[in-house]
Amino acid sequence: MMSMQFCLRSFGIIVAAVFFSELFFSFAHGEEKILSIDTGASCITVDCHAKMGKKKYVHPQSVKGDLCTGCHEITKEGMHLFKDIPSESTGQLCAKCHSEEFKTPPGLKGEPPKIIREDKDLQKHAPFAEGKCTVCHDAHESNFYKHLKKEYPENFYVYFAAGAYDLCFNADCHGGLGEAFAIPRTTTNTKFRNGNLNLHFRHVNKVKGRSCSVCHDPHASLAPKLIRQSFQFGKRDLTINYEKTETGGTCSTTCHKVTHYDRYDPVSNPINVSPVPGKDASFEELQRSRERDLEESKTKKANEPPGESTAPEEGNDNQEGTGLIQ
Ligand code: HEC
Ligand code: HEC
Ligand code: HEC
Ligand code: HEC
Repeated sequence: MMSMQFCLRSFGIIVAAVFFSELFFSFAHGEEKILSIDTGASCITVDCHAKMGKKKYVHPQSVKGDLCTGCHEITKEGMHLFKDIPSESTGQLCAKCHSEEFKTPPGLKGEPPKIIREDKDLQKHAPFAEGKCTVCHDAHESNFYKHLKKEYPENFYVYFAAGAYDLCFNADCHGGLGEAFAIPRTTTNTKFRNGNLNLHFRHVNKVKGRSCSVCHDPHASLAPKLIRQSFQFGKRDLTINYEKTETGGTCSTTCHKVTHYDRYDPVSNPINVSPVPGKDASFEELQRSRERDLEESKTKKANEPPGESTAPEEGNDNQEGTGLIQ
């Protein structure tokens, strides 16, 4: 066994030595030395791209040795030279297989989920709208669910901890927002509140805290605020029926009876709820929060660059910066 390993190792060293001396030689002589490749052959061999496909979650397409050219366009026939894939062009690239309009190419095993569709009423999450799939997904593989780039829960029920949603709450995206989910009462941290009762906190905390994905689609949705039409619960598809109003919203889901929330005039809903921590805000406090919110939305509009529509249609929040949901 030892001698076998030793033998393999010295073979490796010899191969590397030959490779590097050739490379040095070609640099020393100023000539361009590029590997030639056979596109039919596997790119994942002991010597080349050997580490690919070893992580917990893989995009099967990207770690099958001979399918690399499905995404990597060769610039010089037969040569190991590829076009760059800038982040903002991944939308188009991934649409090759993940869009409703595109036919799945022959030879593909498995059906790619068709998450990209053209519908002008669709409200899109900013990085998705910009076609930057690799802001969230690693194109090849990762150790996170759905080969995402950072931690994101796989399950329906999750006990809330900001770290479990690192994909959302990291400094480049919604940094600091994690706090808004950890306090039971607020008049500033979220619009999802009934009076000062933080409904995000109510839904995402405790043993049966729900993942963001239960209510929000990470890509796009027909309802405002990226709220899904329906969500998967076990094998069942349950509807949400979310309606946004000027000062709150309404949900009629299978989870509970029709419920309403209003930020300034809290609604009493006829449902059984677990005890509510903290104190209701006074009438005066709620009035102050209404004024503050109004002031904030005015400043937001005033800061919009001229030429852009400053009059969002009723119920269409697309104008709230580029964040769509922020
Ligand atoms: C589904 C599309 C897709 C497939 C298939 C794919 N790649 Fe990539 N690859 C990308 C994208 C996109 C990038 C650009 C980096 C980024 O944005 O994450 C990339 C970048 C790379 C890089 C540059 C280093 C890096 O990781 O950023 C290498 C090397 C690479 N790919 C090798 C391969 C090999 C080898 C295969 C086949 C085994 C393969 N890729 C298959 C999409 C793909
Ligand atoms: C050449 C076709 C092709 C391209 C291009 C492609 N995919 Fe896929 N993708 C697939 C197939 C096929 C599956 C389903 C595999 C299965 O069900 O076994 C899939 C599945 C997925 C999944 C779900 C994985 C899971 O674990 O359920 C994600 C996420 C994904 N792709 C993201 C991307 C991203 C991001 C890009 C662009 C960088 C991309 N894909 C480009 C073919 C493709
Ligand atoms: C803001 C982050 C983000 C961006 C940007 C993003 N995704 Fe995703 N994607 C997710 C998350 C989170 C999931 C996990 C699904 C869930 O929990 O709902 C997912 C799931 C998926 C799936 C699997 C769906 C399924 O039914 O299994 C595919 C395919 C996919 N994304 C493709 C893409 C493509 C293609 C793009 C670019 C056009 C893209 N994603 C952009 C966050 C993102
Ligand atoms: C029970 C459903 C539900 C869950 C679970 C949920 N949200 Fe929300 N979220 C909403 C609703 C409804 C709104 C719209 C509030 C409004 O504008 O009236 C919203 C609004 C938002 C906003 C806009 C800013 C704000 O707070 O008003 C962000 C960002 C957001 N949610 C992120 C998340 C993240 C991240 C998670 C997971 C940790 C999550 N949400 C979990 C229902 C939910």
